[in-house]
Order: sequence, then C-alpha cells, then structure tokens
Amino acid sequence: MRLLVTGGAGFIGANYIKHVLSAHPDYHVINLDKLSYSGNLENLKEIYGSPNYTFIRGDICDRTALDSVEFDAIVNFAAESHVDRSILDASPFLQTNIMGTHNLLETARQRDCIFLHVSTDEVYGSIEKGSFNESSPLMPNSPYAASKASSDMLVRAYVETHKIKAMITRCSNNYGPYQFPEKLIPLVILNALAGKSIPVYGDGMNVRDWIYVEDHCRAVDLVLHNGTAGEVYNIGSRNERPNIEIIRLLLLNIAEQLNMKEDALFKLITYVKDREGHDRRYSIDPAKIEKQLEWKHITDFNEGISKTVDWYISNKQWWERIISGEYTQYYDAQYGERLNK
Ligand code: NAD
Ligand code: TYD
Repeated sequence: MRLLVTGGAGFIGANYIKHVLSAHPDYHVINLDKLSYSGNLENLKEIYGSPNYTFIRGDICDRTALDSVEFDAIVNFAAESHVDRSILDASPFLQTNIMGTHNLLETARQRDCIFLHVSTDEVYGSIEKGSFNESSPLMPNSPYAASKASSDMLVRAYVETHKIKAMITRCSNNYGPYQFPEKLIPLVILNALAGKSIPVYGDGMNVRDWIYVEDHCRAVDLVLHNGTAGEVYNIGSRNERPNIEIIRLLLLNIAEQLNMKEDALFKLITYVKDREGHDRRYSIDPAKIEKQLEWKHITDFNEGISKTVDWYISNKQWWERIISGEYTQYYDAQYGERLNK
C-alpha cells in the first residue's frame, strides 16, 4: 500500500509512520508536512533515507501539493494542535484544520481513496459525569476543538454526499516521546529539569484521559485496515486523572530517575490563572473500538510515564534545539536542499 500521511513530522504522526514501517515493511509511506513550528524532521531520523519512505514539504491547504503523488489512502494528522495557541489566534487553526481537511477530502473524492481523519475527544466538549460515545453531540469549547469539530462535520458531509470512504478517530490526550514541549507532560518534565516553575492552570483538578502514543498509533492503523467507511471510533485508555496528579507523578519519577530530592521539585509547582474556557473533564467511551476491532491499550500508565521521563532525560539534544530555536537552522543545514524532493 502507498500511504499518504499528513503531519507526519509532528508528535503522533512521526510515531505513526515508524509504527507503519515496522508493522507493514512492504508499505510505502509518503509524509506531507509543512514543517510548522511543531513539525520536526528529527522525529524521523531513524527512517531518513529508507526506500519505503518519502518526505514532501508541503501544505495540506495547497491544491497542487499532491498533483504528482500516487497513493491508495490518506491518514490526516496535519493540524494546528495546541489549545492555548488557538485562544491567542484562531486563524491558523481555521485555515489548516478546516480548509486543509476540505482540500484533502476533495483529493480523496477525486482519487476515490480511503481517508482516515485523526480527530480528538475535545470535539465533544466537557462532561461532568459519565462518558461520551460516538453518537454524542459535538459541543466544542475552544477554537482548537471547534476547528476539529468543523473538520469532522466536513468528513461526515463528504461521506453522505459524495460517498467517500472515510473514517474518523477521536482520541484522548496522548503522551510519549517526541511531544512538542508546549503540552503539559513534556513541559512539566523540561521545566523540572531546568528548575523552572511548573504552571498549573486553575485548581489543577481538570481531568484528562491519558493514552501512550503507541497505543493510539496501533488503533489508527487498525481502523485504517479494519474500520468501516463512514464510522467514527473513539480511542481512549480509561485512564482519567486530574492534572495535579499527573504533575506529581512526573516529579516523583524524575526524582527517582535522577536521584533528586522530591521536595525541591514539588516546590516548583505554581498555581497560575486558569485557561479561558478551560474544559473541566474529558471522558470518552472506547467500547466500540474495543468490541468491534478488538483493540485495547496495552501500555500501563506508570510504565508509560516512566518511559517518557526517561526519553526526555536521554534526549536532551532533541529538546535543547527546540527550546533554543536552533532547530530550524539545524533542519536547513541537514535537510534543506532535499526538503522539496
Ligand atoms: P503536532 O502539533 O505535534 O503535529 C502537527 C504536525 O502537522 C506538524 O508536523 C506540523 O508541521 C504539521 N502541519 C501543521 N499544519 C500543516 C499544514 N497546513 N500542512 C501540512 N502539515 C501541517 O500535533 P500532534 O499532537 O502530533 O497531533 C496530530 C493530530 O492528532 C492532530 O490532528 C490533533 O488534532 C490530533 N490529536 C492529538 C492529540 C494529542 O494529545 N496530541 C489527541 C487527539 C488527537
Ligand atoms: P494540554 O497538554 O495543553 O492538552 P489539552 O488542553 O489539549 O488537554 O493540557 C493538558 C491539561 O493541562 C489541560 O487541562 C491544561 C493543563 N495545563 C496546565 O495546567 N499547565 C500547563 O502549562 C499546560 C500546558 C497545560
């Protein structure tokens, strides 16, 4: 199979491409990525030069980017993905997440190829008790979530109107190696390592369901191969925790791995002004994918957190380049000439 993966230089996309190339060694993966601030070719350095992998630097909003590329299926990870950025300026979210998805849907329609749209549990909004299933109404609260919900609606419309073979996955919060250090887990790890304060929004009791990124990647691949066109699949690991519990667990892990005093790390915790429109609790029911596709998460949370902390401690060069802003220059030097090939 020739698989077009969009946003493959980002956190989940890069983990997914590596999963595909190891699970299906006969596949060819084409990675279309604009290399926005969160796209990082270093996330894929193990497979750079592989005959089964092609990188194209391009924007999913550009109608011509895919003119000369052949593929059988599209997996769309490309997105603006950070809620805080969407609060500051929603425009790039509307452009990439809505217009970009529309462009890919048109491509899928013209080529009659499979389209898997990677979405998020945030489209359902916040829930006090119980969990959302795939039929729950979409009630997004942040501009990010609204842009993802809009793209989900477009996918639905293209299935109904143009009969395209599309599926949607809605996953909970991911963590693991290569996550851009603006998201909670890597931010806490890097601030703790630098002795910087750790900002806790509001009272720290907002709840998220955390899933190890490789479990998400396996689920996406299963939906691509065994999912039913027109269907939506929730992906979650039944692992809901308040933010403050996550932060404490991370700090305990760092203290243990680096033989540091916990108290010194706990002193870094700083309660700050809450995020505007901060969703209190996300909760999705993953029973459908568990029953129909026999998927289940396999990474134990404590083990996943420990592996993630270890990865950030061991890959200082990766995040130092990002933090210093040096990584763009590094790309240009390493890959610059080859970017558009
Ligand atoms: P990320 O920000 O790490 O990666 C996004 C990637 O998309 C980057 O490589 C970026 O360069 C690329 N990109 C951005 N705009 C583009 C454009 N116009 N054209 C081509 N490429 C573009 O994000 P992530 O955390 O890896 O998330 C990937 C997808 O998974 C997103 O669609 C997100 O909504 C979804 N998702 C994320 C989570 C999570 O916890 N991170 C959970 C559920 C769903
Ligand atoms: P984040 O990683 O941005 O994911 P999302 O908002 O998509 O769920 O944030 C996870 C949770 O952590 C969310 O409730 C906001 C909170 N948070 C903090 O308390 N401090 C921070 O510095 C960040 C980035 C997030």
